[in-house]
Amino acid sequence: MKNKLLLEELMDIYKQDIISFHTPGHKNARIYDKLFSNAIKENLINIDTTEIIGTDNLHNAIGIINDAQKRASEIFKSEESYFLVNGSTSGIYSMIMGSTSPGDRILIDRNCHQSVINALILGDLIPEYIYPDIDINRGIPLGISPDEVEKKLKEFPDAKAVIITYPTYHGIACDLKKIADIVHKYNKILLVDEAHGAHLGLSKDLPRTALESGADMVVQSIHKTLPALTQASILHIQGDRVHRDRIKFMLKVHQSSSPSYILMSSLDLAINIYEEYGQELMSELLYNIDIFKSKIKSIDGIDILDNSIIGKNNVLDIDKTKLWISLLDNRINGYDLENRLRSEYNIQMELSNIYGVLALTTIGNEKQDFEKLYTAFMDIVSKLKDTGIRDGIKFIQPIVKRGISPRAALYADKKILKVEESIDHISGQYLIPYPPGVPLLIPGEIIDRDMILYVKEMLSKGMEIMGLRDKNFEYIEVIV
Ligand SMILES: Cc1ncc(COP(=O)(O)O)c(C=O)c1O
Repeated sequence: MKNKLLLEELMDIYKQDIISFHTPGHKNARIYDKLFSNAIKENLINIDTTEIIGTDNLHNAIGIINDAQKRASEIFKSEESYFLVNGSTSGIYSMIMGSTSPGDRILIDRNCHQSVINALILGDLIPEYIYPDIDINRGIPLGISPDEVEKKLKEFPDAKAVIITYPTYHGIACDLKKIADIVHKYNKILLVDEAHGAHLGLSKDLPRTALESGADMVVQSIHKTLPALTQASILHIQGDRVHRDRIKFMLKVHQSSSPSYILMSSLDLAINIYEEYGQELMSELLYNIDIFKSKIKSIDGIDILDNSIIGKNNVLDIDKTKLWISLLDNRINGYDLENRLRSEYNIQMELSNIYGVLALTTIGNEKQDFEKLYTAFMDIVSKLKDTGIRDGIKFIQPIVKRGISPRAALYADKKILKVEESIDHISGQYLIPYPPGVPLLIPGEIIDRDMILYVKEMLSKGMEIMGLRDKNFEYIEVIV
């Protein structure tokens, strides 16, 4: 059997010159070509090294890595910043487990990434969820209410910390400053998953950063919205509520003992681009987005997430670099739209759901990308036939009841049941629509009929769900 090497397969995809509205933020390395000629690409292999004299050590940084982290801290205005080579996932594990002890309670925004839930399993924590409002016609989670945070803090005075996703995958920003004030009033720690917000400091037209809002610890995926290589992320700390030695210990636990110098260099480079060119490139990007939006709004039936949602449902602001677009009223669902954009126009979006598609734009995108996206939309709409059926269903976010903790569920004995027979049993598994990776069902939660029906219907329409035992979702794992 002679297959192509993975490298060859990926090079074939690279050569298709796909227009990228997805991560990583460097957009097929185009931003490096634009700003530095080819220097980074040519040197990547040459700088793959290990801890030898002169190269410093991420886990005990006192030399060149320490200098680079200090630069990052100055630029992002933290007190201390740590490079992450195992993605924001490793930073989320470290900040959660560094702020809690096994058995502790923690308040969690339910629109959180699976890495937050996995941290609960690792750290043996009890989650209490704060549910965001939901835009049920678009399938988009909205803001977290500061009042709801305060209510939960009163209800669970033993909670050690609060973790909020800010901004969300779709670019929704809640009133994090107000939340920070409340969390601190109750002497708790505010942890922020800002995986999608590393670029926010580049413009006053973007939501305030989590550090500016007063978060104690913040994790950012530099690779998602700034031009670093995939997995290159950062953890910022400020204030005196955080036990810094414990965080440093947790960073060692959750990251490779051979951190990649390629990733670390790409982080430093992305932060350098942020400082030197970031504001100018961001104002160009926001200009291109404005032009694109004003043109595309002329399409009859198009729906774009825009400023009109601000001020309602705890939405304080939106990150304009995220473009959520729906043509559902033009009779095409998000999955089909994403597939057509890729197969017919060579444009790849970040994600789709039944309702629409999400473009993740960064300072690596250029004017032509938006022109091509606009032309593609116009063309698709001109060819659509009205079937008279609006292929939409109402998004649900079930308020799930917990049976046992996520960690207890992981280690409990389990059996497989037919999905129809599993209602009211305790789930032994995840159900995670991907992307974005936000769990619908978490191990230890009680299985709910509405959610099962929702997942079945969404699957039939093309949603990808991680955690399924079989592709038709006939079986599910439950606790015995
Ligand atoms: C909201 C959110 N948090 C955390 C993560 C994990 O980030 P990373 O891929 O850098 O580990 C993701 C990844 O998609 C995410 O969307």
